[in-house]
Amino acid sequence: MKTIFEKSTGVDGVSFGECKLTEGIIPETLLRKDLIGLPQLSELDVMRHYKELSDRNFCIEKGFYPLGSCTMKYNPKVNELLAGLEGFANLHPMQSDEDSQGALELMFNLQEKLKYITGMDAVTLQPAAGAHGELTGMMIVKKYFEVKGETQRTKVIIPDSAHGTNPASAKMCGFEIVEVKSNEKGQVDIDALKSLLDENVAAIMMTNPNTLGIFEEKVLEISDLMHKNGSLLYYDGANFNAIMGWTNPALMGFDVVHLNLHKTFATPHGGGGPGAGPVAVKEYLKEFLPSPVVKKDADGKYYRDYDIKHTIGKVRSFYGNFGVLVRAYAYILMMGDNLKLASADAVLNANYIKEKLKGVYDLPYDQPCMHEFVLSGEKQHHQGVSTLGIAKRLMDSNCHPPTVYFPLIVHEAIMIEPTESESKAVLDGFIDTMLKIAKEIEENPEEVLKSPQTTPIKRVDETLAARQPNLVFKE
Ligand SMILES: Cc1ncc(COP(=O)(O)O)c(C=O)c1O
Repeated sequence: MKTIFEKSTGVDGVSFGECKLTEGIIPETLLRKDLIGLPQLSELDVMRHYKELSDRNFCIEKGFYPLGSCTMKYNPKVNELLAGLEGFANLHPMQSDEDSQGALELMFNLQEKLKYITGMDAVTLQPAAGAHGELTGMMIVKKYFEVKGETQRTKVIIPDSAHGTNPASAKMCGFEIVEVKSNEKGQVDIDALKSLLDENVAAIMMTNPNTLGIFEEKVLEISDLMHKNGSLLYYDGANFNAIMGWTNPALMGFDVVHLNLHKTFATPHGGGGPGAGPVAVKEYLKEFLPSPVVKKDADGKYYRDYDIKHTIGKVRSFYGNFGVLVRAYAYILMMGDNLKLASADAVLNANYIKEKLKGVYDLPYDQPCMHEFVLSGEKQHHQGVSTLGIAKRLMDSNCHPPTVYFPLIVHEAIMIEPTESESKAVLDGFIDTMLKIAKEIEENPEEVLKSPQTTPIKRVDETLAARQPNLVFKE
């Protein structure tokens, strides 16, 4: 019987010199007897198919992506090239230190840069996301108090404006979550915080600027209060894009920090691709880091150090998402001192849009913002279109919707983060669109409710999708 190869090619076997492809290698019983029935398509057909699919997708290459809290900044194409270099991409994680000197050097240098940028004393690159960094950081806090014999410290204080991953991560480490409310300026209420402090408090988790895009002005007072109470301060560095080079978590009095490399240092976050959430700690916590940490010996050789006295153990297989580390390192080298400028531009852009939209949309916390700000669609909701409707309408103007309904303390929240990457023309285009939508809602809300009208998928029934998910591609 002829093999499928022989049938389709019309040749008796495919020969490579003396060697026939299938002969003697694959047992006769396993050889396919019938045609496989694959569609016959040219390379061009396939290319057009995938291009058409990708055209249906919205991405940062196509338009403005002001997804608050996700820092959808420009990801330089050269980063992709570097992460794909054969020596990086094909390196096997089981290779010896001797064989991996280049990768280890990059990781060591990145650790050093992150130490410098955060002001902290030691870094692990292992965590694979921001939330994973939080989990790692809180495991370190837990173990620190265990070793100190202060196991009664079972509570973690978290502001009501926090990202949901904060309470989730602390809870996963076995802590009890205590919420502290925000004051009228959208910042931690100091009196409320004081009333929560006792010998059972292990730590506070704070984001600064917080998720309202507001800088916590009382952070030094908070740090003082916490340390006097014998507690630690955890810094959620997901919003670090706002402060790079201007201040750092060490200056603000934090003990443990995570950074979202996949937001602050290119590799935009919103695509849901691989991330990296390195954790940096002060000197007294470095013996608790996950092992191994990359070090350099007296001869200038790089090695993985597993000898960490109170290590919490490994938090990820191998050493983290190496490709994201390469991108972040490239971005830091490329930017140098301009990291500071990137933060300044991000803050300027957010304030520019905020000032142009306030009044038309409600701005619950009317004050200078950092890299993002939160509007409320409450007024438009009363006129018949909720924040969800505004988000959908934006899609008809080739604009990704902002983050909506977060943070939870703002009704009908619309969280806008333009990033530093965009030109004034793009920001002005977005402002015009938002103003146009507000006017449409006043005059003809029914039309807005039909959006999105230009996307391949129109409105979906999200409740039904959540309750009865249909996960079958084709019947
Ligand atoms: C303030 C804040 N904290 C934590 C996280 C969690 O990061 P990740 O999604 O990488 O787990 C995010 C995500 O955007 C965030 O905005």
